[in-house]
Amino acid sequence: MRCNELDTPSLILRKEIFNENLALMRDMALAKGKKLRPHAKTHKCPEIAKRQLQAGNCAGICAAKLSEAEKLVEAGIPSVLITSPIALPAKLDRFARLNATAQELIVVLDSKESAQLAEAAAFASGRKIKALVDIDPDMGRTGVSFEQTPAFASYLASLPHVELLGAQCYAGHLQHIGDATARYGESRRLMEMGAAAFREMRAAFPSCRIFTGTGTGTSAGDLDILELTDIQVGSYCLMDAEYMNACKEAIPFRPALRMLSSVISANHPGMATIDAGTKAIYVTPDAPPVRICGDEILPEWKYDWSFGDEHGRLTFPKNVSVQPGERIELVVSHCDPTINLADRLYVLEGDEIIDVWDISLRGCCQ
Ligand SMILES: Cc1ncc(COP(=O)(O)O)c(C=O)c1O
Repeated sequence: MRCNELDTPSLILRKEIFNENLALMRDMALAKGKKLRPHAKTHKCPEIAKRQLQAGNCAGICAAKLSEAEKLVEAGIPSVLITSPIALPAKLDRFARLNATAQELIVVLDSKESAQLAEAAAFASGRKIKALVDIDPDMGRTGVSFEQTPAFASYLASLPHVELLGAQCYAGHLQHIGDATARYGESRRLMEMGAAAFREMRAAFPSCRIFTGTGTGTSAGDLDILELTDIQVGSYCLMDAEYMNACKEAIPFRPALRMLSSVISANHPGMATIDAGTKAIYVTPDAPPVRICGDEILPEWKYDWSFGDEHGRLTFPKNVSVQPGERIELVVSHCDPTINLADRLYVLEGDEIIDVWDISLRGCCQ
């Protein structure tokens, strides 16, 4: 089947670009002696996770939530790190059950309450739980402060059924800073503080062998942090308008993920209605999708969500003629939540659909 036979709206993956993105990030990390632990929250697709592992130099795959981890383990991913703390008792029991069968499962923790629940669940399941201290890089989302890290690490190490493996420090609030010098500089400052806390942990507890963190936006700079063992980058493999708008030339990755849509009505000059609205493309008002032809972004074409759930509005120069049925390829606003709206991804080589991959972690937000 060829691309122009595909019903729309459909999410497509341009395989050549995707492969280039995988190789680029792998080689960037290799050159600095680090590994990747790619984040599956971006793509929610086990087939992509497998290709990230096949591309090489990976320590494992990340999941945001337990339900994502369950699907990844089911798909045969050997090592999964859950990058959000788990706080509900029933969920920690479920985690412990998954842990009993998974090849390797790791979770971050940031409170004594959760750690005690994890300890009890591990005891009941008969297998130790592997854990990282979640360090808060002054973002306030999750994690313990830099100052509290050594004491919290000692507490975790004192629990007989918790195996302390190291720390995570992820500065999500820095990833989209437009000025590359400010982005790398602020990330370096915070990640160095995380590294100092990790050094203390490692000196006290030799089992600490992981210091993980970083997103696509700060990765090129963070790779210089000596203690960092692996980077949990997500968006680099697909890319989106948010990253392309914010970070522009400082990010070498190209958009592999596209929304293929069709013009369904074009009765007004300079304007057309396409079949992808808020139900197909996640609303990010400050980073609307951009029209792309091959590799060329068409800056005079603008997308907005003003036609609602089912339709998108395209505006363009009045001298351009657009016909109903015409196909429009868009770089999506924000890849993670847009992927979460679709069941499958059509994989393209040139204009040929060579594969269809299930987005089987879709909706896994528990
Ligand atoms: C904990 C964590 N690590 C890594 C990432 C990946 O970041 P990015 O998509 O910017 O590469 C995210 C994304 O939100 C995250 O929440």
